[in-house]
Amino acid sequence: MKKPLKEVSRGKTKQVYSTEDPTQVILEFSDRITAGDGKKRDELPNKGVLNCGISTKLLQLLEQTDIPTHYIETIGKDKMLVRKLEMLPLEVVLRNIATGSLIKRLQMIKEKTVLKRPIVEFFLKNDEYHDPFLSEEYIALLEIATPEEIEEMIRLAKKANDVLLPFFKKIGIDLVDFKLEFGGDTAGILRIGDEINPDSMRLWDTATGRILDKDRYRKDLGQVIEHYIEVYERVTGKKFEG
Ligand code: TYD
Repeated sequence: MKKPLKEVSRGKTKQVYSTEDPTQVILEFSDRITAGDGKKRDELPNKGVLNCGISTKLLQLLEQTDIPTHYIETIGKDKMLVRKLEMLPLEVVLRNIATGSLIKRLQMIKEKTVLKRPIVEFFLKNDEYHDPFLSEEYIALLEIATPEEIEEMIRLAKKANDVLLPFFKKIGIDLVDFKLEFGGDTAGILRIGDEINPDSMRLWDTATGRILDKDRYRKDLGQVIEHYIEVYERVTGKKFEG
């Protein structure tokens, strides 16, 4: 059994622990939730377990389609054993439907427009500078990633969407957009890291348009955890027992 050795970093919603194997770390999903660059923050009981379960299913789906991720094994209700990655400070966003920062930046695009083809955007992961949008040239200018790495992230984000979009469609959910983070493993292979769950994606119920994701928290819509439970149950096909 893999044991957490010591905490090596603490993010806004997850802790990272080293293990006896220097190429592997343990991610522990907490009940913390934050928005507005961490200005708004709360604890929502069970959120860690829900997001660990949802991320497990979605990362397994990607791995089964030969999309390289950091996922190895889920080793507890709120813990995942993953490959240690050297993370790039980027938020890679794939959009199928226009909303959020896209319609703020391009006001000629109407909210809820279905994009003719998915688009991929990059943001700098930096709360102090409020996650600014980055063009591919900006990424090169800041020496964050090479042009080849940028191409590979776009390719993998689109390939992930080709798996996730039909998966969600089958369970009656529109995958509006999602955010990925990437890093290089100890062999230098670029992999999807971090987490994939309603904290980092927009999910709308196809039949009713009801918001099922973290926008319920950002926009004070209420019943956040009830909706995460619904996503957990629809994604995993299992009743949530807590
Ligand atoms: P986006 O519309 O760019 O940002 P905002 O939420 O500020 O309107 O977000 C697109 C998707 O990516 C959405 O599902 C939220 C997710 N995302 C994150 O999880 N973290 C981030 O730092 C960013 C920029 C986006």
